[in-house]
Amino acid sequence: KEIFLKDYKLPEYYFDTVDLSFSLGEEKTIVSAKISIVPRVDGAASPLVLDGVDLKLISVKINGNELKEGDFHLDARHLILTSPPSGNFILETVTEILPQKNTSLEGLYKSSGNFCTQCEAEGFRKITFYQDRPDIMAKYTCRIEADKSLYPVLLSNGNLIEQGDLEGGKHFALWEDPFKKPCYLFALVAGQLESRDDTFTTCSGRKVALRIWTPPEDLPKTEHAMYSLKAAMKWDEEVYGREYDLDIFNIVSVPDFNMGAMENKSLNIFNSKLVLASPETATDADYAAILGVIGHEYFHNWTGNRVTCRDWFQLSLKEGLTVFRDQEFSSDLGSRTVKRIGDVSKLRIYQFSQDAGPMAHPVRPHSYIKMDNFYTVTVYEKGAEVVRMYKTLLGSQGFRKGTDLYFQRHDGQAVTCEDFFAAMRDANDADFANFLLWYSQAGTPVVKVTSSYNAEAHTFSLKFSQTVPPTPGQPIKEPMFIPVAAGLLDSNGKDMPLSSIYHDGKLESVACGGQPVNTTVLRVTKAEEEFVFTDVPEKPIPSLLRGYSAPIRLHSDLTDNDLFFLLAHDSDEFNRWEAGQILARNIMLSQVVNFQKDNALVLDPQFVHGIKCILLDSSLDKEFIAKAITLPGEGEIMDMMEVADPDAVHAVRKFIRKQLASELKQELINLVKENRSTEKYVFDHANMARRALKNTALGYLASLEDEEITELVLHEYKTATNMTDQFSALAAIAQKPGKARDDALADFYNQWQHDYLVVNKWFALQSSSDIPGNVENVHKLLSHPAFDLKNPNKVYSLIGGFCASPVNFHAKDGSGYKFLGEIVVQLDKLNPQVASRMVSAFSRWKRYDETRQNLAKAQLEMIVSANGLSENVYEIASKSLAV
Ligand code: ARG
Ligand code: ZN
Repeated sequence: KEIFLKDYKLPEYYFDTVDLSFSLGEEKTIVSAKISIVPRVDGAASPLVLDGVDLKLISVKINGNELKEGDFHLDARHLILTSPPSGNFILETVTEILPQKNTSLEGLYKSSGNFCTQCEAEGFRKITFYQDRPDIMAKYTCRIEADKSLYPVLLSNGNLIEQGDLEGGKHFALWEDPFKKPCYLFALVAGQLESRDDTFTTCSGRKVALRIWTPPEDLPKTEHAMYSLKAAMKWDEEVYGREYDLDIFNIVSVPDFNMGAMENKSLNIFNSKLVLASPETATDADYAAILGVIGHEYFHNWTGNRVTCRDWFQLSLKEGLTVFRDQEFSSDLGSRTVKRIGDVSKLRIYQFSQDAGPMAHPVRPHSYIKMDNFYTVTVYEKGAEVVRMYKTLLGSQGFRKGTDLYFQRHDGQAVTCEDFFAAMRDANDADFANFLLWYSQAGTPVVKVTSSYNAEAHTFSLKFSQTVPPTPGQPIKEPMFIPVAAGLLDSNGKDMPLSSIYHDGKLESVACGGQPVNTTVLRVTKAEEEFVFTDVPEKPIPSLLRGYSAPIRLHSDLTDNDLFFLLAHDSDEFNRWEAGQILARNIMLSQVVNFQKDNALVLDPQFVHGIKCILLDSSLDKEFIAKAITLPGEGEIMDMMEVADPDAVHAVRKFIRKQLASELKQELINLVKENRSTEKYVFDHANMARRALKNTALGYLASLEDEEITELVLHEYKTATNMTDQFSALAAIAQKPGKARDDALADFYNQWQHDYLVVNKWFALQSSSDIPGNVENVHKLLSHPAFDLKNPNKVYSLIGGFCASPVNFHAKDGSGYKFLGEIVVQLDKLNPQVASRMVSAFSRWKRYDETRQNLAKAQLEMIVSANGLSENVYEIASKSLAV
């Protein structure tokens, strides 16, 4: 059941061409597959093992001859041809599948009346018998036959080479994909869809037809997705020299989808929430997510499709790299600092906590039970940080040399993370020391740094020590290669020019083309290591890990005063934000102690002053201000405690927010008034930043008990002309229980009940509320007519949203745990992938007090012993219990 990286074996057979034929029906679908097969070793005649799940085999032929009982072996997961011919041969199978009954949303299934597919990671085996592994790359054709009025549009990968009408109201389409691909990139779509059409002319003059397909009524909401696609195509040409390689590129939007989107060759399929947007129905965050994910899936055409993974352990090869690429794309189109802050926050909140828990795994996992459980923040987001470190070490040009060599060497191949590493190294003649450990060691490295200034010698020393905490299966770790981007600030807050450093007993120049630099990248590779800056005329304040140059936890000996200084002056904007966050974390932790001792809570006036300066600094980017005045999340603070105490952390965060709001009330009111939207909605950084600042200020104000503010918030709600402003105002009103809240929620539902994506926001706002005893409301919402356990987005909004409120999910009476436990068991019968994502909320149960531990553990035990449990949920639940 458990699969190991070390057990990888070359396939016994390669597939050369695959001709698929689908007859889509209302009861069943017939899939015929004709595969030309080449043994890896000629004459070996080893058994051919094909994967197949939930398939009914109708017939199987080799070289045109029907096989009889005895010639093959069939079990619940495989079709094994016991003695295939010794040379090349043709395999033909016919199978029957039931897409209408497929609620797992994996393989071929129906969503809102349309057929669609999701094959990654191992869904193709639910379509036909196949060697379902990414190192089997073949050229495909796909013929689709279906009722013409029910399914007027028939799509698959590649080019449409034939279509026509058939008897009995049916029609067909024949698609051919000229590129070799692994089966996880196969896609089929059939239904009543319409397209927004556009074109993109590539750098070499290829005219590409772009089509975004949705149900007719959603077509107006695809404008932003089309804009994003064209921007992505252009960006990949300019930044990576990557050109699109076919004459057609399709995107299909579907309402029922387990994940975000899928990069199937020339036929990307998207969760509709990541395609559809209009100013009235989508927020700035939605617009930004659409831009990023449209880019992400498009970028996969080169990083994932043209060059793919040898096996699923290498997933980060394509995902880490493609996330890095989409992050950079969004940075280039918006604000680099703000994007970086968002990405680092996500990493800290979700990935750090995964890396410290029972599901901790390396960027390249060593084993899995169910691959779908490894589409994680570690593989994706930490993987992207690993790619970013190459760029930090090599510079933009060196990094580009590396990717050029990677594509040159591996186009058309299924490769490993070492191949990427080798391309980066070889293209630059680089010494990457033990960098590969980033792929194999789990856990977030902890780096301590102490500094000292020698006034006589004019030297400044940084002493680093690092440890990597133990993780399941990896008790002992080696030191990692950590690039630390660093600068030194003088007493005016300006960067000191850096020219040389003593390291390992040698004087090293850090100048660039003879010119001193403001930032240098220190290569920390040992458990303990010292770097000494020379010619430092006065005692500096160090700015460390600029731009967050490595995914680590950094503990420095900077004092609060140093941090306030950095907050006010650092030329590295990311580190200005970071300094504020470190201060806030320290303050929050100290107040948690106060709370637990029943002492009165207090707020350091220096902190209020620091926030006020940021708030009033008109030279700063408005979205940066919004981020800088936002306190670290409750999860982040709990993460730093010996025993996580959700009640204390919640009370403290609420107290500090309210205190800031009351002390800065007038400033915040001014910000709301000065940053109101008047003109029509524009998606650009300046406008988004303005809305972000206004709405962050509004959120603070809404924590006050104050007539004037209540009116202000209500006014903002009523006068909003876009969803960003409307939803922020609704969230502000909904902070406090009462009639105003009930009325606003009812009003909002009334206005938007016809739009399921907006209704999902409405579910999430209520379910994630910190209002005491909210579990009851969420229970009621389960039977709301707009809720549907079969739709992943609704589950993520309502159930996922509930787990995002620590006070309610971790309620001391266990009501939150019980609620989730019961839902998981129910959900698992419908959709194991979604159930498995939900059960993950339990995984850090050991972080809490004994009462909570026992309650959570009881639910996990109940789940593990449930009848017919999926491997997906079993893997997460059992690993959670094992720690
Ligand atoms: N390759 C997709 C992406 O990141 C993710 C699809 C994963 N799906 C799954 N069921 N595991 O763009
Ligand atoms: Zn991806």
